[in-house]
Amino acid sequence: MTVELRQEQRTMLWTLTMHAHDAASARPILGDPYAAELLDRVDDPPDLGLSLGGNTPLICARAKLIDDVARGWLARHDEAVVLHLGCGLDSRVLRLDPGPGVQWFDVDQEPVIDLRRRLYDEREGATVVAGDVTDPSFWSRFTDDLPRLVLAEGLLMYLDPAGVQSVVDGALTGGATLVADTVAPWVTWVAGLQPAMRAADTGFRSSTADLAKVAPRLVDELSLVDATATRTGGLTSTAVRLFALVPHARNAMVLQTYERA
Ligand SMILES: C[S@@+](CC[C@H](N)C(=O)[O-])C[C@H]1O[C@@H](n2cnc3c(N)ncnc32)[C@H](O)[C@@H]1O
Repeated sequence: MTVELRQEQRTMLWTLTMHAHDAASARPILGDPYAAELLDRVDDPPDLGLSLGGNTPLICARAKLIDDVARGWLARHDEAVVLHLGCGLDSRVLRLDPGPGVQWFDVDQEPVIDLRRRLYDEREGATVVAGDVTDPSFWSRFTDDLPRLVLAEGLLMYLDPAGVQSVVDGALTGGATLVADTVAPWVTWVAGLQPAMRAADTGFRSSTADLAKVAPRLVDELSLVDATATRTGGLTSTAVRLFALVPHARNAMVLQTYERA
């Protein structure tokens, strides 16, 4: 299936490819059962190469951790709204299979959502929404009468600081919870050296510092470097544990949970 994706829109094919490789590996971290079949139906799947492909354990540990956090939250909220921002082609709604009281929204930019609509069957309780999460008017369509979980995986770093502020302002109404991964300031610079990022004409435009400036109350922070070390084995785990000893490396990428007050 041909896709016209530009810049950061294309990065969701990288994560999908990593999910597919992980699922086919001897020791899956995420074990996404849907990724390979979805990828097969995309005409122009990316070749990750060594440098991008090396991020597979980190990206799959991130997805697994967010699945676990979301599953825990859903277990405490029968009636709720979940906004899955920058969803790409991720199958989280199928992996978590939320109950009938949950209104799930998979949100991304128009071209990604067009593709998603073509590749996924409709699922009761799940709606796909095309929109720009940095546009303040985008947020008015969602009710804030119900407890709200907002998931943003691999998204915030592609937004500039003003975009991060718009997401925080739109997401965190009333009793909402925002779960998002962000990167340390030095990672935004290193990511700019990544050939695949340059070829896609994209890059990281904000960091944990930008999120901390605008988000109200941090209630949890988990190191995704640690999460990768504990979810892998052998040489990979050893290498990640050694990396974590380098100053500032443990918090290269973190999963943060914010609430309004
Ligand atoms: C790295 S991909 C992550 C996809 C998915 N969360 C995953 O982990 O597989 C980043 C996604 O964010 C989406 N995105 C970037 N900026 C956005 C915006 N302003 N509004 C909505 N989606 C956006 C991109 O289109 C892309 O699908």
